[in-house]
Amino acid sequence: MRHLLSPLDFTLEEVENMLRLAQDIIKKPDKYSHICDGKKLATLFYEPSTRTRLSFEAAMLNLGGKTLGFHSADSSSATKGESVADTIRVISCYADICAMRHPKEGAPLVASNYSSIPVINAGDGGHNHPTQTFTDLLTILELKGRLDNMTVGLCGDLKFGRTVHSLINAMKRYPNVKFVLISPEELKIPQYLRDELISENHNFKEVYSLDEVMGELDILYMTRVQKERFFNEEEYIRLKNSFILDLKKLSKAKEDMYILHPLPRVNEISVEVDNDPRAAYFKQVQNGVYVRMALILILLGLDKTIEY
Ligand code: NCD
Repeated sequence: MRHLLSPLDFTLEEVENMLRLAQDIIKKPDKYSHICDGKKLATLFYEPSTRTRLSFEAAMLNLGGKTLGFHSADSSSATKGESVADTIRVISCYADICAMRHPKEGAPLVASNYSSIPVINAGDGGHNHPTQTFTDLLTILELKGRLDNMTVGLCGDLKFGRTVHSLINAMKRYPNVKFVLISPEELKIPQYLRDELISENHNFKEVYSLDEVMGELDILYMTRVQKERFFNEEEYIRLKNSFILDLKKLSKAKEDMYILHPLPRVNEISVEVDNDPRAAYFKQVQNGVYVRMALILILLGLDKTIEY
């Protein structure tokens, strides 16, 4: 049995297969509409979500399966003091696979140690968010036709943004990918990630100004400042408007630089940018359903029954 806790749990070849499967799903949705008949996906969300939970549910429904779950810690027995270990043992009796989001880093890993069904990390605190990353990879692949040889700018809250950490981990495995990390001093990537990038000899730089690097980028990954992870409200208020992408700033970008954002957006991308052909964040949302369909099939071992 396999779980997905970090994007690195899949080898490069496995990621490639999954993206190929997702692309086949895009082309031939009918071929997949009954593969999960009789299967159930549980969504265990201890933290708010719109896209991730609903896209998991849509993915399972598109495959012919059913879903069950809870969407906040308040509506689960966590409020009575039940541990993640006990909850997952219980859920294992009800469902074939589950997706878990939790405010504590490592909670899905704990769950996987007690689970008898595949556990998918749907976001654990400020740590990882592998299914968002697979969504991002599919989007970049669809837009650029490749995942290597490019300069990727990541902008905003690089300290607490789990989508940023997972995307860096996933993309550093492709040849000739350069990272430009754009954030205020207080929101730079965590030291462990910087140490990894240095020790593995990756090409990256950390800068404070988006304007200054805009023209170099092939992908600009914008993120919101993660209010819920701040200890101090004043600090959040001071930093929340650090970067706002508007058409004026975008005028310095390449014609084929695409803008991604995991969403939700607060104010870091001005709505005037939405109609620019380079704005790809709503396409990205659609891709989230396809990669989650592919992932569910792979973790349930059902991909082996199909040719793609
Ligand atoms: C992200 C998350 O939950 O980490 N949202 C998502 O899943 N698409 C990004 C965020 O909340 O800022």
